[in-house]
Amino acid sequence: MHLLSLKDWKPGQIKDIIEKAIEIKAKPEDYKTAMKDRTLLMIFEKPSLRTRLSFEAGMTKMGGHAIFYSVKDSPLGKKETIHDTAKTSSRYVDIIMARLLKFKDVKDLAKNSDVPVMDALSDENHPCQIICDLMTVQEKKGSLKGLKLCYLGDAENNVTYSLMHGTALMGMHMAIGCPDDKTFMPKKEKIAEAEEIAKATGATLKIHHDAKAAAKDADVVYTDSWMSYHIPAEQMEERKKQLMPFQVSTDVMKVAAKDAVFMNCLPAMRGMEQTADVIDGPQSIVFDQAENRMWAQNSIMLYLLGKLT
Ligand code: CP
Ligand code: NVA
Repeated sequence: MHLLSLKDWKPGQIKDIIEKAIEIKAKPEDYKTAMKDRTLLMIFEKPSLRTRLSFEAGMTKMGGHAIFYSVKDSPLGKKETIHDTAKTSSRYVDIIMARLLKFKDVKDLAKNSDVPVMDALSDENHPCQIICDLMTVQEKKGSLKGLKLCYLGDAENNVTYSLMHGTALMGMHMAIGCPDDKTFMPKKEKIAEAEEIAKATGATLKIHHDAKAAAKDADVVYTDSWMSYHIPAEQMEERKKQLMPFQVSTDVMKVAAKDAVFMNCLPAMRGMEQTADVIDGPQSIVFDQAENRMWAQNSIMLYLLGKLT
């Protein structure tokens, strides 16, 4: 079993993982040998702080080991096929996380791997992030169903797509606020995927081109970088101009619910996707969110290895 797109997952699986993640966080000592003699391979084609550290520290906490492997130093895709990389790696390690540029390469890796593969941020998904974020929202709000999550900014985006799947699975209401421009709009097929999931869960998805309309009464206001890792630096000024009306400011937070929380998967730039007073203010839960990457990913790994009891 792999963790690729959340669209292929069921609500019960996410619920079980979150429940266990909360337990692991409360009693880490009970899990200190849960990954004994197990090895995680972490393949990176893009930079990372949180993903690398949280997976590696998480494995250490459970008595396992993690190997950092940069595509820069590897023959992957140049002198060696993804097929051979997957087959070879499966002979050494128990589980793989891959941060590759293209989701099709992650799928190829998974198809040829004999061990579970997790997409750790491709062009289409960031499922580990979103399961961890759902855990954080549940911790803060007590439950997920029926909550409104507003996402503002660049919505043609990996994190947005996994959020669309994740909120739909959990019966949440997602409102996106983004420019009326296909560069920043979710792709039609991704909207269709979320709507298909929502049919069974009572979730809704709305797209607005006005930040305050999207944020109205939201329980969670979420944003992500306007300059995702794959976007060339020379696009920054133009993107900033177009996305500025969707910046999360205190004015935007005022129209959300009184007890709304602010989230950003990080890395963040103050003065870009949010103002400094929001991310450093009392409603921000971004560092709890970052911490939970480790706890929920530990639960995800145990689940994928069939060790979640
Ligand atoms: N949120 C997240 O995935 O952060 P990194 O890019 O630092 O891993
Ligand atoms: N959308 C961002 C997420 C970073 C964790 C990116 O792709 O860089």
